[in-house]
Order: sequence, then C-alpha cells, then structure tokens
Amino acid sequence: MSERTLVLVKPDGVERGLVGEVIARIERKGLKLAALELRTADRATAEQHYAEHDGKSFYNDLVDFITGGPLVALVVEGVRAIPAFRQLAGGTDPVEKATPGTIRGDFGLEVQYNLVHGSDSAESAEREIKIWFPNL
Ligand code: TYD
Ligand code: MG
Repeated sequence: MSERTLVLVKPDGVERGLVGEVIARIERKGLKLAALELRTADRATAEQHYAEHDGKSFYNDLVDFITGGPLVALVVEGVRAIPAFRQLAGGTDPVEKATPGTIRGDFGLEVQYNLVHGSDSAESAEREIKIWFPNL
C-alpha cells in the first residue's frame, strides 16, 4: 500500500551540494516525488517540526541549525515509503549508527550534520506533511 513521508535535505546537505544525490537515491529506490520545495524555515516551523525534542540538550542548536540556511522539503510517496526512506537515510549518528551505503553513512560525520530528515511513523508523516505542505 502506498504511503507518504516527509523528507528534508537539511541546510548542510544543500550547502554541500547533495540535493541531487539524495533525490537520485530516492528515485532509484522506486519512490516518487509528490512535492518539492527549496525554502528557509522560520523558527515557528522548525519548532513545530522538532516539537518532540523540545527541552532536550540539543534542541536549541538543532532549531538554530535547521533555520540557518535553505533546505529542501519533499513529500515522497510509495510502498512502505516511511521505513524505506529511513533505510536510505541510515541511523541518526552518521558514524556510530549509519552504515556505508546509506546517505548519512556515506556523507556524514557529526550527529547534528546528518544531512536528511525522514518521518519515523505514519503519525509523524501526517503531522510533518501538514507543517511543510499545508495545501497538499
Ligand atoms: P532524532 O529524531 O532522534 O533522529 P532522526 O533524525 O534520525 O529521526 O533527532 C532529530 C535530529 O536531532 C537528528 O537528526 C540530529 C539531531 N540530534 C542531535 O543533534 N544530537 C543528538 O544527540 C540527537 C539524538 C539528535
Ligand atoms: Mg526523528
């Protein structure tokens, strides 16, 4: 059954010129792009997006980082799109958890600069797609 997930190429990924690389991997996997936009997130959008992490030690730095430059927001669609993109992304820590062959494992070094976001559940996907693409 087809489903949708919210993907971000975070500001580090855009700055490093990895947008095409990320999209190529999404497409090669067989997933489809349903929406795509280059934008700079305002603080309210970033805080909503990362609301589950409010109060954690890394939260303020994370919001500063994600609002610090342009990012690419995408809605990605396909069979098992939510876990499929999490698999492409790799684990949160690009060195300790993400294996080579994944986006984070191939291109990342630091947890904060782990290049991409992908929704972690159907509930998160629905919530996050509404935040980034309220008209979709
Ligand atoms: P989280 O939702 O745990 O990871 P994921 O992106 O894999 O779903 O955390 C959100 C982001 O917060 C993560 O991508 C990078 C950042 N972060 C830190 O900077 N330090 C940390 O210790 C953690 C756990 C996350
Ligand atoms: Mg998460």
